[in-house]
Amino acid sequence: MTRRPGEQRAALGAELRIAAGALERLAAGASLPAALEAAMARPGRDASPGAGTHAAGLSPASRAAVRDIASRTVRAWGLCRALSARLNQRPPAPAMLALQHVTLAQLIDPVRPDATTVDQAIEAAKADPDLRHGAGFLNATLRRFLRERDALVAAVREEPAARWNFPEWWIDTVREAYPESWQAILEESNREPPLTLRVNTGLVSIEAWLSRLSQAGGTGVQVGPQAVRLDAALPLERLPGWAEGLVSVQDAGAQLAAPLLDVADGMRVLDACAAPGGKTTHLLELATLDLVALDPDEARLARVGDNLARLGQRASLVVGDALRPAEWHDGQAFERILVDAPCTASGIVRRQPDVRWRRRRRDMATFSDRQAEMLGALWPLLAPGGKLLYSTCSVFPAEGEPVIARFMRSHPDALRLPLVWAFAPGEGREAVSQLVPTSGAGRDHDGFYYAMLGKPD
Ligand SMILES: C[S@@+](CC[C@H](N)C(=O)[O-])C[C@H]1O[C@@H](n2cnc3c(N)ncnc32)[C@H](O)[C@@H]1O
Repeated sequence: MTRRPGEQRAALGAELRIAAGALERLAAGASLPAALEAAMARPGRDASPGAGTHAAGLSPASRAAVRDIASRTVRAWGLCRALSARLNQRPPAPAMLALQHVTLAQLIDPVRPDATTVDQAIEAAKADPDLRHGAGFLNATLRRFLRERDALVAAVREEPAARWNFPEWWIDTVREAYPESWQAILEESNREPPLTLRVNTGLVSIEAWLSRLSQAGGTGVQVGPQAVRLDAALPLERLPGWAEGLVSVQDAGAQLAAPLLDVADGMRVLDACAAPGGKTTHLLELATLDLVALDPDEARLARVGDNLARLGQRASLVVGDALRPAEWHDGQAFERILVDAPCTASGIVRRQPDVRWRRRRRDMATFSDRQAEMLGALWPLLAPGGKLLYSTCSVFPAEGEPVIARFMRSHPDALRLPLVWAFAPGEGREAVSQLVPTSGAGRDHDGFYYAMLGKPD
């Protein structure tokens, strides 16, 4: 069979070893995207052209395979760690442990014969001078896993971190906050995320766009006033109207923010934590605004610029710190402010599965303090009669009500305004501040917290 270059694959062993390199970096604190990028930039000898890759590095097919191996391991890392603790008499070096984890994740949820996976893992160890001496250890532990798989998995599943694949402090926090629904929330958080789009309904109706989608061979379902969840992801360039800006990628829960702000043509608006611009571009689809998009991260702010360009929109991009308005604010008040604050990202963990392993319990308090500080710093910039929407993509209570309560105590002039939204036409209007990850008939969104504050005239 002739394969096109993009379909050429390195040996599975090479892919396992590169995925293990990414996992090792993740264990040392890197994010999954950064860890994958670094690991794939140095693919190693096995990924040479002779092994089915381009001279420049891994083929697209192998890159996708490495991403899949690493991401499946991250979603099963609690279980893999618990299994390793039983299989290993003493912990091996981090590189060997990472290779064992990526291989166990493949064996727990097999997509090919176990013997192939184990043989390739051993080959991967033998091919690496740093791992070669441990090939016998890896062979023995993996073969023991295969012999005792059911008993071992059943035994470690008694441990919460292995059962749920979340750190124990995370499980405890969700259980305490949502005593009735904590298991459903953790299960949702472990699901593969859907591709959800925002349709610019000012340009095309949802029905008309869905019909164009079906002509392009795709199907989807409406999960919000402007939100469509695809039944199966498509490359973005194949989405009808992508190039013309008819659709953008955005979760249905995130799509609540811009309409809540109730903008009108000509308003001066601050999007205080703007990158990569999902909510900035949504606001600009709803009205013609004098909008300042602020973010301290220049590279991320450049992505706001790219998104504005694709959609043919304009905004002032400002590199700056929301905690220090004196450094960038020109003194003109804003009628609307969106504070989509940096947070633990505990509500979008289905999209960023690595976040759970990089956060620490103390992060909740650290973010909470910074969020309250940010509200205090931006409040003076809001015009009388103006509205400020505070949002986070978190399900941890510390980043929601207590932040607002603290702010209200120190700002007696602030009004807490009601929130009203509906995901579907005819659905009862909702007034809760906290959304948790949910999927089902006509409903699919990540976890968010929203609170609206108003300044009296
Ligand atoms: C949750 S993301 C924003 C997502 C964005 N609103 C969207 O809808 O696409 C939080 C953003 O806050 C930015 N950020 C972090 N610290 C900040 C600060 N001190 N001032 C302003 N933005 C900050 C981060 O760089 C990040 O881009």
